[in-house]
Amino acid sequence: MSDENFERELRVRKIRNGTVIDHITNGMALKVLKILGICGKEDNIVSIVMHVPSEKIGRKDIVKIEGKELDPQEVDKIALISPSATINIVRDYKIIKKEKVKLPEVIEGFPKCVNPNCITNSGEPVSQRFRVEERAPLLIRCEYCGKLMNSDEILRYI
Ligand code: CTP
Ligand code: ZN
Repeated sequence: MSDENFERELRVRKIRNGTVIDHITNGMALKVLKILGICGKEDNIVSIVMHVPSEKIGRKDIVKIEGKELDPQEVDKIALISPSATINIVRDYKIIKKEKVKLPEVIEGFPKCVNPNCITNSGEPVSQRFRVEERAPLLIRCEYCGKLMNSDEILRYI
């Protein structure tokens, strides 16, 4: 085991069953929880580590959610704020699936639209829907009002 791994083990131990979201862009762990709708009321044990040294990306965040296998659709939304994240599904301590997040074509339910006059900001029961217009640099377009949002705006409106 490398020093880095050993250090990591001491911080958060391995989980028996659940999902490990690894290689999260440094500092983005709390936004990841928000995207997944995890607010602290759930019963699952959730571990968050921020600013861990990483050989691949300098520093990174990690989120571990015990007792829950997240499905790819909900997890892929994380690609909007953390394209390097990997999703590890763990069963009985073993990783049975490891995948990089993939940016979906359509994003639903977040972020808030940057346009205050958009129907999704009017109090009507219409939830957000954006289409990915460009991937690098990232641009998404609101399907209701047509407004474009870039990465900075997405981060501010999550
Ligand atoms: N992990 C865990 N519980 C397990 C197995 C793995 O919490 N039962 C965590 C590890 O601590 C690590 C992540 O899941 O943060 C990925 O584990 P692994 O694939 O063993 O590590 P690496 O080889 O470093 O991953 P990668 O190749 O994706 O960098
Ligand atoms: Zn809009």
